[in-house]
Amino acid sequence: MKKQTILTGIRPTGHLHLGHYFGAGQNWVKLQDKFETYIEIADVQALTDNFANPDKVRKSVRDLVVDLLSIGIDPKKATLFIQSTIPEIAELTVFYSNLVTIARLERNPTVKTEIKQKKELFGQSGESITYGFLGYPVSQAADITAFKGNLVPVGEDQLPLIEQCREIVNKFNNIYGKTLDAPEPYLSEIPRIKGLDGNEKMGKSLGNAIFLADDPEIIKKKIMGALTDTQKIKIDDPANPNICMVYYYHKLIGNKNLKTVCEECKAGKRGCVACKKELLSKMLEFLKPIVKKRKYYEEHPELVDEILKEGNRKAKKIAEETLKDVKKSMKINYFD
Ligand code: TRP
Repeated sequence: MKKQTILTGIRPTGHLHLGHYFGAGQNWVKLQDKFETYIEIADVQALTDNFANPDKVRKSVRDLVVDLLSIGIDPKKATLFIQSTIPEIAELTVFYSNLVTIARLERNPTVKTEIKQKKELFGQSGESITYGFLGYPVSQAADITAFKGNLVPVGEDQLPLIEQCREIVNKFNNIYGKTLDAPEPYLSEIPRIKGLDGNEKMGKSLGNAIFLADDPEIIKKKIMGALTDTQKIKIDDPANPNICMVYYYHKLIGNKNLKTVCEECKAGKRGCVACKKELLSKMLEFLKPIVKKRKYYEEHPELVDEILKEGNRKAKKIAEETLKDVKKSMKINYFD
C-alpha cells in the first residue's frame, strides 16, 4: 500500500524555540519514519506579514532549515523545500481564489484573530490588511493540495485553515469533477508549551522563549529569570512546583531527577537558584546533540544548499502533476 502523505509548513521568521520543538518538530521527526513527508519552508506566506522585511525572511530560511536538520529531520526521509521555488503553488492559488468569498476569509477564526492583533498594533483603519494577507488561507490550501497531502500536522490554531482547505477542495471537485483529495488535520500530543514567564504560550514575539540556537550564556540568563512560585520568599519556604516554570521545564526535558526536585521543592529543601542551576545543566545536556548537529551543518553550508535543491526538485515534480490535473479539470489544458 502507498504510504500516506504528510504535508506541513512553517513560516521562516526566526529560529525554532522549545515550543516549536516539543509542540511540532519532535513529532515531525517521528512522522518522517511512517509517512511520505514534505516540510515546506513557507517564505511566500511569511512575506504576507513581512513583505517589508525581505532580509529577515531570507536569513530565516537558512536558520530554520539548519534548526530542522539539527533536531533530526532526515533529508533522506523527509523532503524539505522552499515555497517560492515552486511556482505551481502560486498558480493553484489563483485558481482556488475564485472558490472562496471575501466574507468567508474574514470569518476564518485564525485570520480573524490575526486581523484583531494587527488592528491592536496599527489602529482600527484596517489599512494594514492586504489582499495577500487576507488570501493566505487560499495559498495554504494550494500548499497542501499541491503535494497531495492527506494529513497535515498542525497546532490547534491552524484547524480553521485546514477546514478552509477542505471547503476549497470540495467546491473544486463539485464544479470541475473529482480531482483533489481533502486533507485531515493531525494534531500533535503536546499542542502548546508554556513560556518562561508562565504565559500559556511560548512565543517569539512574547519574549519568553528558549531558542534551540541560543548560546549557553543566554539560556542561563533566561532560566535565571524564569517564573517560580511567587509565594516562596526564603530559601527554606516550601513551594508549589505545579505553578513553577522551572519545574515545568525540568519535566518537559525529562529530568530523571524529577521526583527529588518535586519533593525537595514542596518540603522547602531546595532553593530556587540551585534548582535553576540544575535545570540549566540538564537543559544544556538535552540540547547537546542538537548543538552538535547544528555545528556540523553550519560548517557545511553547501550541504544545506544541496538538501534544499534536491527537496525543491522533488517537490516541484509532484506539484507539476497536481497542476496538470487541475488545469485539465478546469479545461485550460489547451494543447494536451
Ligand atoms: N500557517 C502555518 C503557520 O503559520 C504555516 C504553513 C504554511 C502551513 N503552509 C502550510 C502549515 C501548510 C500546514 C500546511 O504555522
